Amino acid sequence: MTVVRVSAPGRVNLIGDHTDYTGGYVLPMILGQRTVVEGELVPGDTITIQSADDPDIAVFPNDVTNPARLNPAWGRYVAAMVREAGAVPAFRARVSTDLPIGSGLSSSAALEIAVGRFIRESTGREWDDVSMAEAARRAEHAASGVPCGIMDQLCIAVGRPDHATFIDCRDLSFRHVAIPETMEVMVRFVARRTLVGSEYADRVADCRAIEALIGPLRDADPAAVDSIADERLRRRARHVVSENLRVLASLDALYDGDLAAFGRLMVDSHRSLARDYETSNPRMDAAVEEVMNERGVLGARMTGGGFGGCVVAIRRRT
Ligand code: GLA
Repeated sequence: MTVVRVSAPGRVNLIGDHTDYTGGYVLPMILGQRTVVEGELVPGDTITIQSADDPDIAVFPNDVTNPARLNPAWGRYVAAMVREAGAVPAFRARVSTDLPIGSGLSSSAALEIAVGRFIRESTGREWDDVSMAEAARRAEHAASGVPCGIMDQLCIAVGRPDHATFIDCRDLSFRHVAIPETMEVMVRFVARRTLVGSEYADRVADCRAIEALIGPLRDADPAAVDSIADERLRRRARHVVSENLRVLASLDALYDGDLAAFGRLMVDSHRSLARDYETSNPRMDAAVEEVMNERGVLGARMTGGGFGGCVVAIRRRT
């Protein structure tokens, strides 16, 4: 049988965190590190996946119904994508990655999209990138229980090297924006973490509660935010509304090549995530401060879901 080899990159979010699941704006970019899936269709109805990082093998039927029960746990993302695709013939594949796992660089979304690409290539079926990203988001929910937004999966599915992807998470339209040659993007690892069982789901619930009070956060203005009586919800709303505005402003800064303005928006974003949204922690705050003190650094912030993971920073290339 023909061997098919596909891959999908990780992503780092430049700005726009905790805005995607309320239909807001985000500005992530794909990374050079990738997850590779290589394998072939086989007769029968059993899917077998090996990982270069784990001696345990994931084995499940091609009509898998409950991916969340599978062990090893990384196999759940594969099984959930298979279930999303539906009617996938049996296959045998190997997975390897140079992405750090559980570091907030979307290793799980990279695995989902790599599996989607493997299914598309090996079966020759049509599956457009946006639908694949939507399927991958559902797969992430099913596999991990984390009620994530679409940012990671869509950025990974459509992203281009050396470009940021501006995404409107309401209608899933996107635009590729070239990273200026003068801008160096730095990603610093801080701590391993998982969003499974974290406060991520609490933040999503807070946003649902806010939207029940004032309508879609994407359309809310600062006056609507001020009208929220509950102090915690008011802060959460203030983050989301101001973060959407920062993404739009940072897009302008990127087009203008105004790195200093972009950097300031990153710093404001971090402060908002730390104080109002409370998804940072002292280690991440310290890492942001540390990198800000390095020569030429114009901005830094926590990136992704938070509670650990990585810090992203920008510096003028000299
Ligand atoms: C995680 C989720 C994304 C997004 C970010 C925060 O990466 O998977 O959908 O919500 O957190 O911006």
